[in-house]
This record gives sequence, C-alpha cells and structure tokens, in this order.
Amino acid sequence: MIIVVGSINLDLIANVDRLPAPGETVRGSNFTTAPGGKGANQALAAARAGANVRMVGAVGKDSFAAEATALLRDGKVDLSGVGESFASTGTALILVGADGENVIAVVPGANDSVLPADIAKALLKKNDVVLLQHEIPLQTVEAALDATRAAGAISVLNTAPFRAEASDLLAKADYAVANETEFDLYGEALSLAGRDRPARMRDYAGKTGRTIVVTLGGDGVLAATPDNFLTVPALKITPVDTVGAGDTFCGYFGAGLSSGLPLEQALVRAAAAGSLACLKPGAQPAIPLAKDVDAALTGAR
Ligand code: RIB
Repeated sequence: MIIVVGSINLDLIANVDRLPAPGETVRGSNFTTAPGGKGANQALAAARAGANVRMVGAVGKDSFAAEATALLRDGKVDLSGVGESFASTGTALILVGADGENVIAVVPGANDSVLPADIAKALLKKNDVVLLQHEIPLQTVEAALDATRAAGAISVLNTAPFRAEASDLLAKADYAVANETEFDLYGEALSLAGRDRPARMRDYAGKTGRTIVVTLGGDGVLAATPDNFLTVPALKITPVDTVGAGDTFCGYFGAGLSSGLPLEQALVRAAAAGSLACLKPGAQPAIPLAKDVDAALTGAR
C-alpha cells in the first residue's frame, strides 16, 4: 500500500507566451482549472502506476473541494483520511510559458490544517511506502517520517518546495527526492562537501546512510546510495507543460519500490513516467497510465 500524507490543491492555470519579469504584465492565451497539489498529484501517479493508494490530507468546505479531489476519486484513491477544514481548499496560481516552463505560487489554505494527529488516519503497516512533500506543516512531515520508521514502512520525501527549515528532515527519509535546484540549496544548508553535485550527493549518502535522488528534468535522474551511484536517462521529448512532472516521478517511484522493483528499475520507470507527464497540459490530467509508460520504455530500448 502507498500512503500519501500531503497537499491537495485546485490549480488555476494561465498559459502565456513567456513568463513575466517582476513588475511586468503579460497577456495570457488560455485559462483552465485542474486538480493539483504535490501530495494529490503523487497519490494519483502511484494509483495510475497500479498501486493501492490512501491519501491523508484536508480540503475546505467550499466549491473547489470537489474539483480538487475529482481525479483521485476516479483513480480509486482511498480518501478516508482526507478531512474537511474551515480554511479554504488549497490553491496554486500557475503560469505556463510556451516552452513548457512554469512559475507557481501556492496558497496552502486547508493544507495547513493537516496535523501530526492526522497521521493515525494513515493506518500505517510494515512495508507500506509513505510519500511526503513540503506543502503541509513540517511538524506533520516530521511526525509522519517518525511514524513510518516506527511502523517498519519505507519513506520517500519529496523535498519540494524548498524550505530551508526542512533541511534536517531529509536524513530522516529512506529516500529523499530533490530537483537539482532544491538539492543545491539543501546541499548548502547541510554543508555537503564535494566540488560538484554527484560528489555532494555521495557525501550526503555517506554521512546519512540514506539514498538521495536528484531529478535533472530532460537530463534524467541521479541517485546516490551509501554504496552505489546511478545515472538514469529521461525520455527524449519536447515538453508542452512540465507542471507535475516531478510529482509523477515520485508517485511512480514509490509505486515501483512498493511492488519490489530494484532501485534502478524503479528509477527508470519513474523517469519515463515523468517525461510523459510533460506532454499534456495540467498536473493530474497529464499523469500517464502504466500501459503508456510500458509502451514508451519498450519503444526507447
Ligand atoms: O508540483 C506541481 C504542483 O505544485 C501543482 O499541482 C500545484 O498545486 C503545486 O502544489
């Protein structure tokens, strides 16, 4: 079973030719809404990968809540751990440029009411895989990491968005997953040694005894374990929208570990899924099905 303790948002998305500079107004070409939130996106990705998934989180008592959870329901994610808060459903204001790159501002709303006491709703068991991110209170993330270890389950912490005060949480996770920018910032905060990123990743794995995974967008994925270093390619694609690609990676990665795949195979599958997620607009609408990932991997060989 995969358990996600994390955020649920409604994404408000505008497409623009190019992302504006500070103080600049640009004209948008399209506006849509779609379910999002790093936690919910990862839950749906794990479900589309074929895993049984339970979500622990919160939405508001408002009109955004049903839309924010619609695809999780369609994907048969167990939402018994999702509570209702007096705060509004989390929202993310997203601009997507013509090159597929994006900027995002998140307003947490109900996600800030996911508290350590809610972890009981996860019904954690030995060998479960628990996916966590930084869009709920960090005290809840830390309590979930501790509860995961106590239950004999496996934790995957996606370190997004970067929060300097979360630096000491990384080493509590069996697998920390960062993008390159986040890893470089955490590397400074943790005073990792080494003249380049792979060296600093090795330093992290050696010091903590845990695995660090760094996603590089179109350049693939790196992973350092205490005794190994892996490099995995991305698929060759032309991105139309990269929103949710990292979440798709994490959901598929967790599902791969949960199904018993060796680390390298779980990374290969997750990297392919993350690449495919860049081919359609929106976070959750773009998450590929397992059969599409299989077909892409077969074609790439
Ligand atoms: O990672 C993408 C997600 O970040 C979006 O769905 C948005 O809700 C923000 O949480």
